[in-house]
Amino acid sequence: MTQEPLPYPFAEPTRLDVDPRYEEIRKQGIVRVQLPYGEPTWLITSVADARIAYDFRKFGRTEGLKHAIPGLHNTEQIKIPSLLLHMDPPEHTRIRQLAAGAFSPDRIQKLSEWVQGIVDELFDAIEAEGPGADFIKMYSHVLPVRVLAGVLGIPKDKAFEFKQWIDISSDFNNSPEVKLDARTRTLDFIRDLIAQRREKPEDDLLSVLVHARDNEDKFEEDELVSLAMALWHGGFKTTLWQLSTTVFTLMTHPDHWRELKDKPEIMNAALNELWRWIPSFKYGVPFGFWAKEDVTFTNGQVVKKNEPVLVEFAVVNRDNAVWPDADKLDFHRVKPPQHYAFTAGAHSCVGQHLAKLQIRLTVETLIRRFPTLELAIPAEDVAFDPASFMRSILSLPIKW
Ligand code: HEM
Repeated sequence: MTQEPLPYPFAEPTRLDVDPRYEEIRKQGIVRVQLPYGEPTWLITSVADARIAYDFRKFGRTEGLKHAIPGLHNTEQIKIPSLLLHMDPPEHTRIRQLAAGAFSPDRIQKLSEWVQGIVDELFDAIEAEGPGADFIKMYSHVLPVRVLAGVLGIPKDKAFEFKQWIDISSDFNNSPEVKLDARTRTLDFIRDLIAQRREKPEDDLLSVLVHARDNEDKFEEDELVSLAMALWHGGFKTTLWQLSTTVFTLMTHPDHWRELKDKPEIMNAALNELWRWIPSFKYGVPFGFWAKEDVTFTNGQVVKKNEPVLVEFAVVNRDNAVWPDADKLDFHRVKPPQHYAFTAGAHSCVGQHLAKLQIRLTVETLIRRFPTLELAIPAEDVAFDPASFMRSILSLPIKW
């Protein structure tokens, strides 16, 4: 059975809602869809099917380099074989291990005090600004940049210039030429930085990676550049928007916010539930996988070798079969299974512990320092950015 592909995405996402139509789609199992760019792909919306797709013996990424990758936009210019995103084990494992060590839960935990120092400094500035301060401008846009720049070893005075190029290269409104130019500048900047660390190593991740490249012969120069780029690219915009949507969600769920303030012992469960519930990437944004062999999904549909699948993981996270009443934000789920906010399998987010640390310290500090926190404008007036690849809030004035 080959289905006529359904035009996809079905609609633009509205704020943090997940389209109720997905419930019907999920019941059908995998369905064939056509995104604005690339070839048709199979859409995955349930946990049972996601588990099949995240099995790297059956699905991979390198095959995608030979295809028109399904997406909202043409991504031909980032078809770079040395990019982590496009690799398969064992090459992928070799490169990823270098970063995974630096981002392990233990190593990240050791950064806690340093990150808390930046968090406090930024909240001092918000306090000084007074009610009406914009959380996005004064906090979300700053914390992940300072943290990631510090970890990687990007000089503080250059970090925000470097951030601007990423802003430009990931803005849907910019032309391919403008995006490519920003990307080239970012790459040149990284190459310069690598040369400096080669000359004079510092106590940062970039120096560790340069050492591994030069002394241990672990990877090629272009792989080193791509890895540094992937960490910087993957690390700050995602955290930026997730910080904002987390605060927005807490402020628009006052009972949850109150309970979290009263019972700090539920913090772990609450954060996990927030990560499950808050949709991060917009529909059609996640990168697909290609079948390495014919694979049968739960509805009996066979995905043929070299056909793509797209795991819409924000929708998977709302699978009622796994999280009863999944659209409800519920801090009291009993032994909930692992969510897919950072996906699963070989390409799951390598920087997730750094992101989680920043979000945790932010929520804990807000509770401690701003227990009367509220939005300074009505929730329905909070504007989301139509040009971003994530659910992102443009401005979030707060008061306390
Ligand atoms: C809340 C913040 C974050 C979210 C929601 C997020 C989400 C994700 C997701 C969904 C993926 C899987 C993409 C795929 O299927 O290829 C991913 C991969 C990745 N993330 Fe994150 N991420 C966050 C923070 C970070 C941070 C802080 C870093 C770096 C320090 C980072 C670096 C990466 C890298 C390098 C990959 C590619 C991994 C691979 O292909 O093996 N991310 N992230």
